[in-house]
Amino acid sequence: MSDPVVAGKNPIEATLEAGEYWWCSCGRSRNQPWCDGSHAGTDFTPLRFRLEAKETVWLCTCKHSANPPYCDGAHELLD
Ligand code: FES
Repeated sequence: MSDPVVAGKNPIEATLEAGEYWWCSCGRSRNQPWCDGSHAGTDFTPLRFRLEAKETVWLCTCKHSANPPYCDGAHELLD
């Protein structure tokens, strides 16, 4: 599997309503942190996640989190 594109080196804070979301895992989306279909032709697929209630979350943009779609601090270890 190829490496994802590092779309950013800081997470995006988002207050989201309950519902289903598609997080970009390839890093190519121009609408970070959401999938825009740019993974087409790559090994990547978007990650679907669901929130049961309104919540403020920190979404990974570096695509190296071990707990996607959430930031786990991995961006601090990137060059
Ligand atoms: S932005 Fe990816 S781990 Fe923080």
